[in-house]
Amino acid sequence: MEKDSKKNRAEVSDGDGIIVLKNLTKTFGDNVVLDNVSLAIEKGKTTVVIGPSGCGKTVLVKHLNVLLRPSSGEVYFKKRRIDNLPENELNRIRTHYGFLFQGGALFDSLSVAENIIFPIRQHYRIKHWSEVEDLVKTKLSIVGLDGFQNFYPANLSGGQRKRVALARAIALNPEVILYDEPTTGLDPIRADIINELILKLQKELGETTVAVTHDMTSAYKIADRIIMLHNGKIIADGDADHIRNHPHHVVQQFINGQVSEDDLAVLRVSGTLFQAQFLPRDFKE
Ligand SMILES: Nc1ncnc2c1ncn2[C@@H]1O[C@H](COP(=O)(O)OP(=O)(O)OP(=O)(O)O)[C@@H](O)[C@H]1O
Ligand SMILES: [Mg+2]
Repeated sequence: MEKDSKKNRAEVSDGDGIIVLKNLTKTFGDNVVLDNVSLAIEKGKTTVVIGPSGCGKTVLVKHLNVLLRPSSGEVYFKKRRIDNLPENELNRIRTHYGFLFQGGALFDSLSVAENIIFPIRQHYRIKHWSEVEDLVKTKLSIVGLDGFQNFYPANLSGGQRKRVALARAIALNPEVILYDEPTTGLDPIRADIINELILKLQKELGETTVAVTHDMTSAYKIADRIIMLHNGKIIADGDADHIRNHPHHVVQQFINGQVSEDDLAVLRVSGTLFQAQFLPRDFKE
């Protein structure tokens, strides 16, 4: 008998997801980035998307709240089709989402407090600071930065900036949080603080989490489910053990940080160019 019936999630039916992608294809010119991808994101769980640089992780995540519209296929949020909604209705739907984007960009000209209330301002009129003071304090306490309200991003470390971006992502008490490379650029200890925060938020708020990462330590730590993208398709989908033991060589190469034959071929070509360039001067027979 299978120990965990959800080990391989390929069978998850569309009805199971808080967000569902149905037969989603995204092309940019001739570049087919997502090729007929179907995926149900499970409510209250953490789904991690892995895959090599340029494989379409960010593009996939940007479809979950329709920051990108599909070339074909459909996106559903709580069973409602959203990919065909006009922008003003989408903005209302997006209040259910928090996002921490790749680079975690804060607005440099705004203080920490102003950065956190930015998403609130986009949707609600704030007449007086006292209306949001407690909210800012609560969100900053969650990420361990209460007291930093009047700091500016330039005076924060990279890890602190990520934590402020996280506080901003939860400003509207979202049901879904999307993280794109939340630990990139941080040392292992600062990265682990972000992992712990993601776990803490998940435990305390019970929201649905989708995180993109290259970092397998982070993926194994936070994921209920890991999805690997390759050539526009989902080639692996399951829990950490399922991924660790996955038979597909591309999955094994990725999780073990090994160079693929394709990458080696590129390096061999550039090696030849390198030799050709220097041969006349260095060549001694
Ligand atoms: N707005 C766009 N216009 C044209 N091409 C795009 C656009 N956004 C993404 N792409 C292309 O889509 C592909 C996937 O990009 P994406 O940013 O999703 O990769 P990624 O997996 O997130 O990579 P990384 O790990 O480096 O962040 C790339 O070939 C990229 O050039
Ligand atoms: Mg990306």
